[in-house]
Amino acid sequence: MYLNSLSSLGTRIKWTIVFNRLAQFQMEKLVKQVITGIGIAVGVTASCIALYLLMREEKDESEIWNDVRTTRQTFVKVKVPKDSIGAVIGRGGEMIKDIQEKTNTKVKFEDLCDSEMARNAVIRGTPEDVIEAEALIRKIILNQASVDQIFIPFEAIGFVIGKNGESIRNITEGSGAKVTIGRNTGKGPRAVTIKGSSQQIAIAKSLIDERLQMSELRNQRSRLDTTVQDLEKALGVDRNSITDTSV
Ligand SMILES: *[C@@H]1O[C@H](CO)[C@@H](O)[C@H](O)[C@H]1NC(C)=O
Repeated sequence: MYLNSLSSLGTRIKWTIVFNRLAQFQMEKLVKQVITGIGIAVGVTASCIALYLLMREEKDESEIWNDVRTTRQTFVKVKVPKDSIGAVIGRGGEMIKDIQEKTNTKVKFEDLCDSEMARNAVIRGTPEDVIEAEALIRKIILNQASVDQIFIPFEAIGFVIGKNGESIRNITEGSGAKVTIGRNTGKGPRAVTIKGSSQQIAIAKSLIDERLQMSELRNQRSRLDTTVQDLEKALGVDRNSITDTSV
């Protein structure tokens, strides 16, 4: 018993030595790795500096290239709706000045009206700058609140409003536009006023359109049902008494 445990102790000691050796070996390896790591780090830093110098040189060259490019300017025309011109120009011309400075472009409104409803803004600059300025102007136009009006057939109005106004609330919430149903004008079409950005108005219109189509489908179905019922009456057939012989 005693001997047994003694020998097991011996084994344990041996193993401990082996483990210690292993640990030492690992340690040495680690130190080597650290040193190599430092070496690599130094190497990396050096190559980073070299790369940076290279990049800087490239940047200097590209700056020169930019100067060359500015002589090759382009222009683009953006149609600005009449009711958005004020917003694009801004109070005291602040907005258009800001856009020009931010994008390094020149923007001028053409005297000649493209149509009565819009004016062209001509943006001049490098192709990249022109695209950037165009995007800013388009964003202002999209965010510009405007008003639109559509007419809905009398028969569909209830369906567009929905039970307890649920449908019209969905349309308002889904689009973000303000939708107002006009006063009751008898059996004629009802005016619906939509206020919001052009994007919101477009969404509201498509949601109303969807609802109108659903309403039309329902009407068609009920008309078909009536026709079938009339036919059945005329023929004296009871639909429930017909048995399908194909089954
Ligand atoms: C309104 O929106 C909810 C949630 O999307 C939907 O469950 C419901 O059917 C909609 N109601 C109408 C009348 O469109």
